[in-house]
Amino acid sequence: MELLHPLQLDTNYEYGSHWIVTSNHGYIAYAQEEWRRRFGQLKSRMMVSGEIALMELPVDRNEVFQAMESEPTMFIRYLQPVDIAFDIQALQTDTVQSFDSLLTHLIHDLEGSIEGMRLGVHVRSSASGDSLDKELRDALRTAVERTGASVAIQDPERIVSLFIHDGVGYAGLMTTAEAGSDWPGGTVRFRREEGQVSRAKFKLLEAERTFGLDFTAYRNALDIGAAPGGWTSLLLERGVQVTAVDPAAMHPSLIDHPNLTYYKSNAGDVALEPGEFDLLVCDMSWSPKVTAQLVIGLLDSVMQGGTVIVTVKLMHKKPLQTIREVKEMFLEHLHIIRAKQLFHNRDEITLYMMKM
Ligand SMILES: C[S@@+](CC[C@H](N)C(=O)[O-])C[C@H]1O[C@@H](n2cnc3c(N)ncnc32)[C@H](O)[C@@H]1O
Repeated sequence: MELLHPLQLDTNYEYGSHWIVTSNHGYIAYAQEEWRRRFGQLKSRMMVSGEIALMELPVDRNEVFQAMESEPTMFIRYLQPVDIAFDIQALQTDTVQSFDSLLTHLIHDLEGSIEGMRLGVHVRSSASGDSLDKELRDALRTAVERTGASVAIQDPERIVSLFIHDGVGYAGLMTTAEAGSDWPGGTVRFRREEGQVSRAKFKLLEAERTFGLDFTAYRNALDIGAAPGGWTSLLLERGVQVTAVDPAAMHPSLIDHPNLTYYKSNAGDVALEPGEFDLLVCDMSWSPKVTAQLVIGLLDSVMQGGTVIVTVKLMHKKPLQTIREVKEMFLEHLHIIRAKQLFHNRDEITLYMMKM
């Protein structure tokens, strides 16, 4: 007996695929534009204003994942394929049993056995705070455990993702790398610590995780636009020597740290040794081009192969153009490894680069 009621989604392309795409609030149009430029065309329907849309591409699921792996986009925070859509109202009274058949459908093409696999269960709906979310999440977790797999929060081997909008459930199975995050919707939540210097610290923490960095492997960092010192404090915690530069004051709790050198000045006015640093980080709320110029002016102090992390403010309209221009400036000096809008970036993106 079919326990689920699969729905046929409207389709515009013969070999197309459907996706639930999530971006930071206000940036879904740019995520859409990145895909439109890459795949030539797409259809899109907004589900949560400015941040979640159902998109259809003219290419199949695998091709999309391959394209995203070889060249990730900047504004897609979390990506879920729609492997099946179904009528939520028509879920059987035994929801767990309905989800048994949902899972059977989702794992159909999976190579190997699901038994013993660590699965993430991500359930979200467009009506935030929907009590239905919790009910469905619990039922889906139970169904997952009935398959012999275990429910994992961090580093799952696969994610079962369910997004609910307007009485329809959109479900898909993907890896964490394909989703772009192991947090539901890419909503990365770090715990705020007692005495934390600034919220900005979360941005560098998220960059460390997202870009697969290990700051403990670095010895000597230059932090420009460092005050009040969230980024500096993270690097100090990782055992890195930090030179912080900012005309504004650093937080008093950091001033006497034995591994910190602090220049209370403009980043353009400091004299540094060539090749002194293996890491340069910059988080200035300044015009993107002026910031890029300033960073470029300091690159002599970074050793070859050194890492450079810069946030680029998108304060003007046309963010795609701003990013392109700033990337062109950096490309003459640095290899750009990733450009991504992180969850903790507000109106900015983070560039992860390497000195050539
Ligand atoms: C967003 S805050 C940095 C927050 C910091 N990353 C943290 O974790 O606490 C931007 C900082 O850039 C500094 N700044 C702006 N222009 C600068 C310049 N030319 N040289 C150095 N710092 C600058 C500002 O004084 C401000 O403290």
